[in-house]
Amino acid sequence: MIQALSQSTIEIQLTVNGKLYREEVEARKLLSDFLRDDCGLTGTHVGCEHGVCGTCTVLVNGSAVRSCLMLAVQADGAEITTVEGLAQSELGRRLQQAFSECHALQCGFCTPGILMSASEFLQSGEKRSTEETREMLSGHLCRCTGYISIVEAIRKTNDWSMGGE
Ligand code: FES
Ligand code: FES
Repeated sequence: MIQALSQSTIEIQLTVNGKLYREEVEARKLLSDFLRDDCGLTGTHVGCEHGVCGTCTVLVNGSAVRSCLMLAVQADGAEITTVEGLAQSELGRRLQQAFSECHALQCGFCTPGILMSASEFLQSGEKRSTEETREMLSGHLCRCTGYISIVEAIRKTNDWSMGGE
């Protein structure tokens, strides 16, 4: 008879959108599942779960990371920003506003991940070319737009970050 092994859990402590979480998690739990199930932050969407679509992208210590490829225990001690925390920064607010003004989303499923990658991409406040923007977006699969409006929204936010209106 096969016996179920007891689940090994590990206590982790991490900050998500400025809020401290201390939780017991299974060692095998993905960061994406932790954010959605344990933190209730369902703005982080899960598509392929294989690191291909980019939908699950969040910031871990300021860097864009696919949360379906990281275990929650690997994020112990980290500072995480999800799409729910994007508006805590002026850049994040501008980015969301530009996406709205440029109609840069349709069903919106892939949008949280794109917003998180774009916020990292624009953090430096340097001029970004259309080619660089398209290259950054190549890590994201959107099934319902042609990316043109998304590129325009990122350009608009980039102009603002360089001192424009
Ligand atoms: S769900 Fe993580 S990359 Fe697709
Ligand atoms: S807006 Fe629908 S998948 Fe990207």
